[in-house]
Amino acid sequence: MHPVMPLSTRALRCGLTVVAVAMLNSCAGPAPPPLRLHADLKQLMASVVDPAADVVWESVGTIYTADGTEEIRPRTDEEWARVSQAAWVLTESANSLMIGNRPKDTGDWMRFAQEFSDISLKAARAAEARDAETLFTAGSDVYLACTACHNQYNVDLTTPTTP
Ligand code: HEC
Repeated sequence: MHPVMPLSTRALRCGLTVVAVAMLNSCAGPAPPPLRLHADLKQLMASVVDPAADVVWESVGTIYTADGTEEIRPRTDEEWARVSQAAWVLTESANSLMIGNRPKDTGDWMRFAQEFSDISLKAARAAEARDAETLFTAGSDVYLACTACHNQYNVDLTTPTTP
């Protein structure tokens, strides 16, 4: 036999439940973070994404000349650090493509941005491991990730947009 709960306790519990439900309804989830989203997509691309991608792409490759081939590789600690910094910028810039009014939709856009992040992470890890071959492959995959999104949203990079 359960003891009968005194009326006052029952009322108190009910009251608390009502308050809790009211709170859930009024503020479903935590308050949004106080972000400062100053750059528009174009500025983000031109000032954050593109320069970082250039560092990654220019870090590895092979130059063929009449005299033979020249292997481009990061060689010093500073050179490797610069590439991994740039790859981390790419990895994290993908998140800033997914917040505020930047996403163009909540489906494909988010998928492209996530792939962009995951692939950039591979470049960052390869740079940290000083693995030039993997870095090269990751760099080409990053390029494909940029192009996939640009194609989907009809971004034409062949015509210069800056005055
Ligand atoms: C999730 C989608 C998405 C991804 C991923 C993406 N971009 Fe973009 N990019 C855009 C959109 C949309 C624009 C057009 C922005 C505008 O003009 O409003 C753009 C524009 C640009 C521009 C033109 C900027 C200007 O000055 O007009 C460059 C350069 C660029 N992107 C480079 C890159 C590079 C490099 C990568 C990959 C390393 C990349 N983008 C990845 C969506 C994306």
